[in-house]
Amino acid sequence: MTLQRHTAVTGLQWGDEGKGKIVDLLTADHDVVVRYNGGANAGHTVVIGDQKFAIHLIPSGILSPEKTSVIGNGVVVDPEQLLKEIDELQERGIDITPGSLLVSDRAHVVMPYHKEHDAALERVLSSTAKGDEGDLSIGTTKRGIGPTYADKVHRSLAIRMGELLDPSHLESRLNVICAIRTRELTALGVVAPPLDPQSLAKMYAEFGARLAPYITDTVYALNDMRRDGQSILFEGANACLLDIDHGTFPYVTSSNSSSLGIPAGTGLAPPCADSVVGIMKAYTTRVGAGPFPTEEIGDIGERIRERGKEFGTTTGRPRRCGWLDIVAVRYSAMICGATSIACMLLDVLSGFDELKICTAYMLPDGSKTDRFLPDARRLLGAEPVYETLPGWNEEITSATERSDLPGNALAYLDRIESLLELPIDIVSVGPERTQTLEAAGCRG
Ligand code: GDP
Ligand code: IMO
Ligand code: MG
Repeated sequence: MTLQRHTAVTGLQWGDEGKGKIVDLLTADHDVVVRYNGGANAGHTVVIGDQKFAIHLIPSGILSPEKTSVIGNGVVVDPEQLLKEIDELQERGIDITPGSLLVSDRAHVVMPYHKEHDAALERVLSSTAKGDEGDLSIGTTKRGIGPTYADKVHRSLAIRMGELLDPSHLESRLNVICAIRTRELTALGVVAPPLDPQSLAKMYAEFGARLAPYITDTVYALNDMRRDGQSILFEGANACLLDIDHGTFPYVTSSNSSSLGIPAGTGLAPPCADSVVGIMKAYTTRVGAGPFPTEEIGDIGERIRERGKEFGTTTGRPRRCGWLDIVAVRYSAMICGATSIACMLLDVLSGFDELKICTAYMLPDGSKTDRFLPDARRLLGAEPVYETLPGWNEEITSATERSDLPGNALAYLDRIESLLELPIDIVSVGPERTQTLEAAGCRG
């Protein structure tokens, strides 16, 4: 029997943990890299020497030659963005061929009216719909993610990638869809000419024609690859605390962005991954609205943002920053079935006299809990209970082995390991591939 090794990479916080860097690193050990959830709301950064790539839709594995990259059925695909990404990567010398990139014919299509709806609803919610609990907007990326997944669940007005390959069918669907969508957008205050089904159908059929060589039944393709002994790396987008079912609802994204999304988003029956690498920052960040118990809005947060260059890869928004919340990470590790941890951006914490780790929450009724509250209203009332550890002054970006780290950095990592009861197999001390400290033998 062939020994297989399939790995899942998943974010354990609110996104931007450094998944792109770890996917790039682990791609070397796998044949296939698969995105199973989300869409162009993701922004995964990979730094290779003096080259920096920010990828939104295509699996980060595309940067490694001779690997297969798959956009699974659980992803929502903006064809215009996908073509732009293919063109930009090809211009930079990345070889993308119909064999190296497969796009699911069942992935749902993000249309322009989804993006307009996303932006218009956010606008309405932040300007007029202030209830007792304040602004109800989510702070989305405005990439049309929510409305596209809503159409998928609603069914009748949804379009899947395979349908872009049939222009007359597409036009007849859009005749109905545009009439309804125009009324909805008008109700949301969008002042624009009615959506024109003919021109939309023409444009999207052209996108379909260009993408046709990549569009296929990825479910059979992936099952064939697994049966043939190829090893698969699952690239999670967004992160566990943004998962539609298990995150801080309603301040979440619209897919199962924990590793629980893998089977449904790929069509591979579980068990899918032999190991699940949970990616966490050495502190916490969040973009968009929603509760964040350990957020530091003063000097500390500013310092983390500055040192970590914490500005969104997709929207450029400044990320909210704060101390490490281990209650949240432990919860995510449980949901995702993490078998090991990659602790990222440890270098950002150099220069703090003291570091804090949140190990429990105090609740409004005076009780204390070490369990996460995956509901925004309840989490809002949680006050962090901190443990304080000594910091270190040395810059650590040129460390090449774990033993190069200062004692207090090692103690910080040890404490995280014991609180999570999981090994930290990877420590990252800078954005580049080389700035990675791996535990001996952790890659089998
Ligand atoms: P992803 O969405 O999880 O892939 O993460 P992003 O790419 O959105 O954000 C992570 C950012 O941190 C990127 O700019 C990375 O280049 C950068 N990064 C990754 N690892 C490290 C690290 O160990 N140290 C520092 N300073 N930056 C890192
Ligand atoms: P990566 O893969 C950080 C956040 C948005 C917003 C909420 C809903 O780069 O880690 P959406 O546009 O999905 O409807 O927005 O989710 N969000 C992310 N935050 N990193 C991401 O992806 C995110 N994807 C979505 O900021 O708060
Ligand atoms: Mg990101």
